[in-house]
Amino acid sequence: MTQSLTLRRPDDWHLHLRDGDMLRAVVPESARHFARAIIMPNLVPPVVTGAQAAAYRDRILAALPDGADFEPLMTLYLTEETDPADVAAAHAAGLVKAVKLYPAGATTNSASGVSDFDKVRPVLEHMAEIGLPLCMHGEVTDPSVDIFDREAVFIDRVLDPIRRATPGLRVVMEHITTSQGVDYAREGGDTLAATITTHHLVINRNHLLVGGIRPHYYCLPVAKREEHRLALRAAATSGDPSYFLGTDSAPHVDALKETGCGCAGCFTATNTMSILAEVFEQDGALDRLEAFTSLNGPAFYGLPVNAGSLTLTRGAPVAYPPKIHAGADTVTVFDPGFPLHWRVDP
Ligand code: DOR
Ligand code: ZN
Repeated sequence: MTQSLTLRRPDDWHLHLRDGDMLRAVVPESARHFARAIIMPNLVPPVVTGAQAAAYRDRILAALPDGADFEPLMTLYLTEETDPADVAAAHAAGLVKAVKLYPAGATTNSASGVSDFDKVRPVLEHMAEIGLPLCMHGEVTDPSVDIFDREAVFIDRVLDPIRRATPGLRVVMEHITTSQGVDYAREGGDTLAATITTHHLVINRNHLLVGGIRPHYYCLPVAKREEHRLALRAAATSGDPSYFLGTDSAPHVDALKETGCGCAGCFTATNTMSILAEVFEQDGALDRLEAFTSLNGPAFYGLPVNAGSLTLTRGAPVAYPPKIHAGADTVTVFDPGFPLHWRVDP
């Protein structure tokens, strides 16, 4: 018997598209399945102003294949110099759907991020007033904090104090990786939500480190213990509106992954929907996949759900390319380590 599953067309609430050759290589991979995506602003230099976000949006639209139906939802990169008036104008124009906070030094291209959280208080207060969400990379950068503890410590030291000081601020905890993140997001009421990546539902830190170091499983926040992966699975498959998909699909050329000091990021845009269907089937939760990929995100962002649909059909294992080409370079597609039986219908 053929099994098929039809969902509202999904959105990706956390995506890295980069620029230039890489943008042209990866944007078709997302546009094939996703109707919209929240576009991360950590370019070099970062997307800081409304004018830069408008120009980047134009470059993304120009890189789309003919006939693609994909809307980039732009974000601004928060710095200690960000002008609240510029943020408000970009929001009022409908251009910008969120502001991204990177603690300075936490991850790829985060050097212009925030070190002194008091300095961004006026912007955050303004965002609370106008209802513009803050997307947070939730890891402390204190060198004395173990990398596996940085998310849990961030919640106590940074996130909770900011939320208490700025009532009404809408916050998305980006790419949570711990049971502490799952619990804090669940208990945060309707101004708090969390995105969960595809890869953190699949890998724990053993996948990264046992039997040899696997650079294509290295991302930030780094994958944690199995108990945390299981907490993420339970959250994603629960249907709870606090959680929705943000793939954090983050392409780097293979030469910069497979090297002495490799970049952080897993590239999952190509096979995310097949992986998620497999994961939700493994957990007996296929009926809740649509909430995670297509309903909970728009509800939090105050946007309509997509009009179109996406159908997956179960059958023989799906073939997907192990790598895609970006200019003269290659980008490795995330390998979940198990066969994928759900194919997205063309
Ligand atoms: O793994 C990651 N890659 N985590 C991030 O926070 C940034 C991203 C990137 O831009 O490569
Ligand atoms: Zn990211």
